[in-house]
Amino acid sequence: MQTITGLVKLLEAGHTLDQAGLTRLLTLTAPEAIPLYRAADRVRKRTVGDEVHLRGLIEFSNYCRRSCLYCGLRAANTRIRRYRMTPAEIVAAARFAVRQGLKTIVLQSGEDLYYSVQELCAIVQTIKKMDVAVTLSIGERSKSTYAALREAGADRFLLRIETTDEQLYARMHPEMSYQNRVRCLYILKELGYETGTGSLIGLPGQTAAMLAADLVFFKELDADMIGIGPFIPSPGTPLEQAGGGEVDLVLKMMALARLLMPEINMPATTALSVKDPDGYQKGLSCGANVIMPNMGWCEYKRLYAPYPGKEGWKTDAETQLARIKALLHQMGRTVSQDYGFRAGR
Ligand code: 5AD
Repeated sequence: MQTITGLVKLLEAGHTLDQAGLTRLLTLTAPEAIPLYRAADRVRKRTVGDEVHLRGLIEFSNYCRRSCLYCGLRAANTRIRRYRMTPAEIVAAARFAVRQGLKTIVLQSGEDLYYSVQELCAIVQTIKKMDVAVTLSIGERSKSTYAALREAGADRFLLRIETTDEQLYARMHPEMSYQNRVRCLYILKELGYETGTGSLIGLPGQTAAMLAADLVFFKELDADMIGIGPFIPSPGTPLEQAGGGEVDLVLKMMALARLLMPEINMPATTALSVKDPDGYQKGLSCGANVIMPNMGWCEYKRLYAPYPGKEGWKTDAETQLARIKALLHQMGRTVSQDYGFRAGR
């Protein structure tokens, strides 16, 4: 049997490992995992460098037609107040983020069919004129909708698979289809979007072997971006009493993702920073090269709550951005001045 050091060396040199090896590394204890984290940090530095891309996140609607068991935005959650930003408000928030120097705008919402495709396309077109990259995170849509939005100028799309274990997927996502989600991801790639996916860590019943299979899936898809965060139980959902994801397991997943796919863009996620006050720093030391500061208005930020503890809404976007920049400075990392497309393309 390979030693841990042997497995990490193989990964660092060849960027490939089978599911059994990945499973084994995912079960390392926190101290044992340190060499894994270090290797991921070296590969991050070698391939994407010390630059960190800041993506301005605008959560423009918290309406959702889905009922994912873990998510506070699920349709059945009547405890939250719903909001929709108008197209003019969305564009104004984007303009603000661009004035702050951000080079990517991420438009995220629940699966809300309220906005017409034409409306969404017009928003994308207007923001694209501000000389930025545009990322969409609006869930499963038809191929023609994805195509129209791409035509309108959208550059990237985020759609987490959440879990590749089909039984767990079915349990977590009533009335949804795993096959369709995978299909959406391949359509996005085919349409020329930089495509992001990822998993929730710590879902009830999720095992290390399932997470290893997620990593194999990311590599097979040739994902351009990977977002990995801890599941945080959310009040008003069927999983409100469940245990959440462990920070170290998230970090191991991130480190492995970086080692398997050296040139991806990978955020230290907001959920990681909610779970751990040093989450951004830890994520950036285990392979991450992206942070997604929230550039929405405070009131909307407060209402956009897939999980609790997002205290960020209390601070205005400018202050939050300044804090992130100070952290990067302290870590010897720099703020990227470019659009931050996938390296080596
Ligand atoms: N905890 C952490 N992340 C969550 N998401 C949804 N609900 C939760 C939760 N309770 C994540 C999903 C989704 C992303 C936008 O937010 O992975 O893809």
